[in-house]
Amino acid sequence: MDVRPFWLAGRPATGDGELTVTNSHDGRVVGVCSVPTRDQVEQAVAAADTVRKQAAALPVHVRAEALAHVSRRLAERAEEIARLITEENGKPILWARGEVARAVSTFRFAAEETRRLGGEAMRLDTEPAAAGRLAYVSRVPRGPILAITPFNFPLNLVAHKVAPAVAVGAPVVVKPAPATPLSALLLGEILAETDLPEGMFSVLPVPNERAAALVEDLRLPVVSFTGSGPVGYSIMDSVPRKHVTLELGGNAAAVVLADADLDWAASRVALYSNYQAGQSCIAVQRVIVEESVRDGFLDRLVPAVEALVTGDPADEKTQVGPLVSEAAAERVEQWIAEAVAGGARVLTGGTRDGATVAPTVLTDVPADAKVACEEVFGPVMIVQGVPDADAAFAAVNDSRYGLQAGVFTRSLDVAFRANRELEVGGVVIGDVPSYRADQMPYGGVKESGVGREGVRAAMADYTYEKVMVLTGLTL
Ligand code: SIN
Repeated sequence: MDVRPFWLAGRPATGDGELTVTNSHDGRVVGVCSVPTRDQVEQAVAAADTVRKQAAALPVHVRAEALAHVSRRLAERAEEIARLITEENGKPILWARGEVARAVSTFRFAAEETRRLGGEAMRLDTEPAAAGRLAYVSRVPRGPILAITPFNFPLNLVAHKVAPAVAVGAPVVVKPAPATPLSALLLGEILAETDLPEGMFSVLPVPNERAAALVEDLRLPVVSFTGSGPVGYSIMDSVPRKHVTLELGGNAAAVVLADADLDWAASRVALYSNYQAGQSCIAVQRVIVEESVRDGFLDRLVPAVEALVTGDPADEKTQVGPLVSEAAAERVEQWIAEAVAGGARVLTGGTRDGATVAPTVLTDVPADAKVACEEVFGPVMIVQGVPDADAAFAAVNDSRYGLQAGVFTRSLDVAFRANRELEVGGVVIGDVPSYRADQMPYGGVKESGVGREGVRAAMADYTYEKVMVLTGLTL
């Protein structure tokens, strides 16, 4: 099998180690990539630092054309890339195709947003003392970005860091998840086709143990991390003076109120608790249902979950594939067992076969069970009855996390109440918390993180506002 190069300052390179990538469904080796030496990592960071001024001064049309090119090429190579995602991640091809389509949009949005990144004129002659003064407020890149990306969206969550970086004129060094580096490397191949200057991007598949050196490197003043809470907070604690954005996990809730369309709610909850085998930070984990419709909802939900097609991720019909590894599936199995030992009832699922966990519905789950209060990151939901909307919203907020919540209701009043009361970064009315459009701000409150992704929001995070005051003007 050919050893794939990594990307060092925009050029392919090989190092002195190899990383083998396997498919979690059948254990097949699906790719091998080269691992950079410490010296090569140093060269990549030095190149990002060297190019930072040139990058910040890149004309808008150069940035926009590079981003549009990546979007076009992702679209042209969509099927090949979707198959690569399925191979390295175990994500069913159905969802992998969706991820590629989203990455096409992410880069397209960035190409559009970079053209809108103009400055703002602010009159200061609001006070007599500032007569004849005008402020020009512009956004300036903070500097090169270290992007540490997760395995669950190996293309689009890389896109969500790279595209805004290019859009603001900041070099970016990507450290992809060791389980799924191949999509990020392919993205590097497409970026290398553009006219971006040398040093503008590197993709370095180094092991996690070597990430700390990158995090601590002062030439990378921004760290954008997506992954687990403990790792995210250890990054933040280790570099308190850097600009760190964290997109961490959650135990997302879907609220089903008495006025909801129960068929729609059940079908959406069934699918989006289990899509990508639950390995999304906004997969439905907690289902909070008004008591008066609980039985009717469960009568629809359980058959909908049982009808999901589980199996080989390469099969067109498969909706639920394996987790990223057998170890991850074993951990989910243990969490289910812990809940059951504490009194939970399994309405369906609860079993494991290799890396695949059967879509699972639990009720009567003790509040302190891990499946209730931690992030499962597996195809498991817990269903809890509540007397009314007040109790439902209190239950959503009874969590360390706050990424997104979904509320199935037809009432506009309740929708606005949910928006006021729920302690989350995003509220989705009439659908699951798993809904995400790539242009909208995305991120959490509480222990779900700090900062926002979504192209324009990330561009704001990667830049600071700079003011130039002009004096002596006749306004
Ligand atoms: C995530 O898992 O945080 C990303 C979800 C998404 O992009 O749909």
